[in-house]
Amino acid sequence: MKVLVLNGPNLNLLGRREPDIYGLASIADLEKALSGEAKSLGLDVSFRQTNSESELIDWIQEAFENKTPVVLNPAAFTHYSYALRDACSALTSAGIPLIEVHISNPHAREEFRQTSVISAVATGVIAGFGNASYLLALRALSNR
Ligand code: DQA
Repeated sequence: MKVLVLNGPNLNLLGRREPDIYGLASIADLEKALSGEAKSLGLDVSFRQTNSESELIDWIQEAFENKTPVVLNPAAFTHYSYALRDACSALTSAGIPLIEVHISNPHAREEFRQTSVISAVATGVIAGFGNASYLLALRALSNR
């Protein structure tokens, strides 16, 4: 099974950006850990990051066209991007799973982070387990 793992804005700075919140692992470290997990689960993972809302939406639409399950860390777009939500809704309404992941637990942080416009159209949400949130999402997809 193919899986797209998509990362939104500022996640390219992982390891250097607020390491007390997001940890010391770089995005390359995360990709490496994920590809190890994917291998053991027999998943074919494609890992991407963008700072652009439009590119992220294009990738969700690509998943829609190809019926590819998605693991998505929408980063700050989580909290306000109705356009991204609509793209995610198109995907999950068509029966293609999308798991929303967060490294931190946004519910335990600032008030603006406690709203996700994505969660209601996601298949499920995994948050607060550091980079392991992504590994758990891969396992959840593989269990389905
Ligand atoms: C995040 C949480 C968001 O609130 C924040 O804007 C991010 C990362 C997380 O993975 O914990 O950039 O999605």
